[in-house]
Amino acid sequence: MTNGLPPDEVIFGQSETMRAIRQRVEKLAGANIPVLIQGESGTGKELIARMIHLHSPWASGPLVKVNCPAIPGTLLESELFGYEKGAFTGANGMKPGRVEMAHRGTLFLDEISELEPGLQAKLLQLLQDGQFCRIGAQEDKKVEVRVVCATNRELEHEIETGSFRADLFYRINVVNIRLPRLRERSHDIPTLVNYFLAHYNEKYNCRAQTPSSQTLSLLERYHWPGNIRELENLIKRYVILGSEETISSELLTHREEHFDPEIPTTDAPIALKKVTRQAVRELERRIIFKVLQANNWNRKKAARSLNISYRALLYKIREAGLGSMGNSANNNSPASAD
Ligand SMILES: Nc1ncnc2c1ncn2[C@@H]1O[C@H](COP(=O)(O)OP(=O)(O)OP(=O)(O)O)[C@@H](O)[C@H]1O
Ligand SMILES: [Mg+2]
Repeated sequence: MTNGLPPDEVIFGQSETMRAIRQRVEKLAGANIPVLIQGESGTGKELIARMIHLHSPWASGPLVKVNCPAIPGTLLESELFGYEKGAFTGANGMKPGRVEMAHRGTLFLDEISELEPGLQAKLLQLLQDGQFCRIGAQEDKKVEVRVVCATNRELEHEIETGSFRADLFYRINVVNIRLPRLRERSHDIPTLVNYFLAHYNEKYNCRAQTPSSQTLSLLERYHWPGNIRELENLIKRYVILGSEETISSELLTHREEHFDPEIPTTDAPIALKKVTRQAVRELERRIIFKVLQANNWNRKKAARSLNISYRALLYKIREAGLGSMGNSANNNSPASAD
């Protein structure tokens, strides 16, 4: 890392799922088989695709990325497969496509679910016999490429609705890597925080410290809809702005909008009492946070306004992981009696 480049190391952390993924990546990288990487936005699909390329025998060859939804449907075909001179109005010369540019390297097709049916058929041909045809050409051409696809959609569902070809799915899904959501590997959050902290401290020449254990515990409890990208951006802002309150106030504000109790998808009974307790705690945390903010983090005033004792408020603040907050607000140190 360093020199202002985006971080490129994959932090696998300690979770069992990520350990299995690392092993899988190391094993499959060497074989020329297609790989499908699935996972929510920000879980690291592109990073894993790069890792597969870098560990493959074609690492010195090109890694060509095609962001399918970013290129309008009509242009995508010529972008992927290229065209011959005179293939259509405006085709004044021959242009090779990205498939050809990836020869003896890796072709990374991002957001593959966005590929329209005609292109799905052409891609199927490429995967079946390594052949493709430039637009306007008389003959097929042959290439050697390793195809890696990524998607944040459930392709199985797209097949049911008829928008994705089942035969193509089986071709691209020879090996599948399903990246977990960040909230499913929350034990890895401190490791990721330290990694991004070191990276952005160096990049921006800053000296932000590891956040307090209370803030780390807030980070571990947050639900991370934007996954690792969201965590990375938050740490970047923390490094630049230098205050832990950046983290806590952002997380608490977002939690408000997103409170989403964990409901098991299996037949396991839903423990209503537990879920309700969780919701009440969450609501209490939000109220306390807002009242503290409104009182400029003066906890005596906040306790009065909440009609609870000062001691009870201190206890609740600790429980809610709000203890490190308000340090920079006014001159009320939360450690003092205000
Ligand atoms: N395991 C990881 N270790 C370190 N950094 C990571 C990890 N996973 C993701 N990141 C970082 O998070 C950011 C998002 O990752 P990436 O672009 O690979 O996600 P993605 O799954 O492709 O997201 P999208 O679906 O939105 O395109 C990147 O800056 C990446 O470096
Ligand atoms: Mg991506």
